[in-house]
Amino acid sequence: MSDRRNVTPNDLSAFWMPFTANRQFKKAPRMFVGAKDMHYTTSDGRQVLDGTAGLWCVNAGHCRPRIVEAIATQAAEMDYAPAFQMGHPKAFELANALVQIAPEGLNHVMYTNSGSESVETALKTAIAYHRVKGDGARFRLIGRERGYHGVNFGGISVGGIVTNRKMFGTLLTGVDHMSHTHTPGKNQFTRGEREEGATDLLAELERIVTLHDASTIAAVIVEPVAGSTGVLIPPKGYLKKLREITKKHGILLIFDEVITGFGRVGTPFAADYFGVTPDMIVCAKGLTNGTIPMGAVLVTSEIHDAFMQGPEHMIEFFHGYTYSGNPIAAATGLATLETYKEEGLLTRGAELASYWEDALHSLKGLPHVIDIRNLGLIGAVELEPIAGSPTKRAFSAFVQGYEEGILIRTTGDIIAMSPPLIISKAQIDELIGKLGSILKSLE
Ligand SMILES: Cc1ncc(COP(=O)(O)O)c(C=O)c1O
Repeated sequence: MSDRRNVTPNDLSAFWMPFTANRQFKKAPRMFVGAKDMHYTTSDGRQVLDGTAGLWCVNAGHCRPRIVEAIATQAAEMDYAPAFQMGHPKAFELANALVQIAPEGLNHVMYTNSGSESVETALKTAIAYHRVKGDGARFRLIGRERGYHGVNFGGISVGGIVTNRKMFGTLLTGVDHMSHTHTPGKNQFTRGEREEGATDLLAELERIVTLHDASTIAAVIVEPVAGSTGVLIPPKGYLKKLREITKKHGILLIFDEVITGFGRVGTPFAADYFGVTPDMIVCAKGLTNGTIPMGAVLVTSEIHDAFMQGPEHMIEFFHGYTYSGNPIAAATGLATLETYKEEGLLTRGAELASYWEDALHSLKGLPHVIDIRNLGLIGAVELEPIAGSPTKRAFSAFVQGYEEGILIRTTGDIIAMSPPLIISKAQIDELIGKLGSILKSLE
């Protein structure tokens, strides 16, 4: 137990860090103290090239002037306004700006503070929607193995990452899972989407729907491209077919675009890239360029309008957060969307995608590399685990990367990358070049 009398400002013990190997970190801390555009500055004064946009969120790069100014100005003008039964103009302006860039039909916005809260909001909305329509038997939720939908109870229930779920016993009832979309042995080193596999994977959804009966299922939630599990790209036609099946059975389709939203795959949302419009889009991260916590759920008019009934003085949906649409977050969101627009960042990923793909796939053949996957400005390099020590090899690559000036992310033995959308071709070369050298030197 630490002795509080001996704690110094630099003591690292009090902060129990999230999703972190705390003991390893505190023995050899990796501290960032500054950031600008594509780089972080470390506490020992080194520059680190950001290969992950922070945590898949700093899509416009770091400390962008318009965003910095919006935060400062709004903090001085109005710090907070009650979120319930009161409003402020910027929350409405941002909602209007979001529906302008959203796929057609997603005309309404609910705000949250994170991806996890956006997921919970969408799941609750799905169940409540069926209920307000008089279809209260639809309570089941279908997710996917290896899916990541944040860390709250709903999200880990529909999510399919075992380490996130196993401690928590019986979670939400009435949840089922489809298979993930990765078929090792069949699709290694595929560039982008592979041709085959959609029909078989979705036959399984039909089986699940038959098992439970469609009349009990409220929604299916998927990440269009699974990110946190280590970047799994769906086969061609998968999401279109998923849309057809859910529509046929009256099941809502929720896209969790916390990672894929705001230009990550070369279009404003992955829904645009795949040409599929879900009933709800869950987003966060890039909404405020990772600066001020904010998430959102975009819903169709059909869903929104179903709730707009009963006496007008009554609250239509008993849901919301103290910080829903917080003024500083809303101002930040507006400045972020303006930055994306001015610099064409929501489509820049499409211009860079083939350069990125070639650079990534140049790592094929290097020691330990067993797969490479990519789409838009997302990429993953999967390594052969060290026998008896899974995750150690990729973690060593991550630590070495930090020491040598690149920030990458690892999940298990998969290295994932998702640089800010302002990255230059020379910086792609630097990131992948350094990663290549690290791979050659790994045990
Ligand atoms: C697809 C997806 N959904 C939800 C979340 C959770 O977001 P947050 O960490 O903001 O709660 C994440 C975070 O990485 C994510 O990738």
